[in-house]
Amino acid sequence: MIALIVAYANNQVIGNLGYIPWKIKGEQKRFKELTTGNVVVMGRRSYEEIGRPLPNRMTIVISNTKNYDDADIKTVRTLEEAIEMAGDKDVFISGGARLYEEALPIIEKMYITEINLDIEGDTYFPPFDKNQFTKEINQMFDGDIPYAYVTYTKR
Ligand SMILES: NC(=O)c1ccc[n+]([C@@H]2O[C@H](COP(=O)([O-])OP(=O)(O)OC[C@H]3O[C@@H](n4cnc5c(N)ncnc54)[C@H](OP(=O)(O)O)[C@@H]3O)[C@@H](O)[C@H]2O)c1
Repeated sequence: MIALIVAYANNQVIGNLGYIPWKIKGEQKRFKELTTGNVVVMGRRSYEEIGRPLPNRMTIVISNTKNYDDADIKTVRTLEEAIEMAGDKDVFISGGARLYEEALPIIEKMYITEINLDIEGDTYFPPFDKNQFTKEINQMFDGDIPYAYVTYTKR
C-alpha cells in the first residue's frame, strides 16, 4: 500500500521557513499510529526539520546532496528507489511539496489532517482533483485550533 500523509491548514499551507507553522498537542497522533512499523518517505528538508530518524519505523530520505544512512534510516535519490527499498511494507509519503506532487498519481490513499487555521506559509500541498477520490471524515477535534482527520481513497 502506498499512501501519503499530510497536515494542511486552510489554503493547503503545509510549511513556512522550513517548519510546520502550528503546534497542536496530540495532532500528530494519527501519524504515529499509521506509520509505526511501516516506512516513512520524506524529502531532505522535511527530514532536516525532524533531525533524527523516527522510532520504530524505517525512514527513507530522498536527497541528492546528503547521506543520512544508519540503522533505521536510508537515503535514496528518487521516489522510485524509495518505494523499491520499502519492499512489501506499507509506505507513507510524508512531504514536502514536490514529493507530494510526484506521489499524487501513484498513491491509493491520502491521510489528511485538515487544520482549521488561516496562516501564512511558503509551502503548499499541491492542488488535486477531488473527483478522483472518495472522502471520509474520520474524527473531528475542537479546541483553540480545530482540526479533523480525513481519508481520501482513490476511486
Ligand atoms: N504539514 C505537513 O504535513 C508537512 C509535512 C512535511 C513537510 N512539511 C513542511 O514542508 C516544508 C519542507 O518541504 P519542501 O517541499 O520545502 O522540501 P522537502 O520536499 O522536504 O525537501 C526538498 C528536498 O528533498 C529532496 N527531494 C524532494 N523530492 C524529491 C524528488 N522527488 N526527487 C529527488 N529529490 C527530492 C531534494 O533534496 P536535495 O536538495 O538534498 O537533493 C530537495 O531539495 C517544511 O516547511 C516542512 O515543515 C509539512
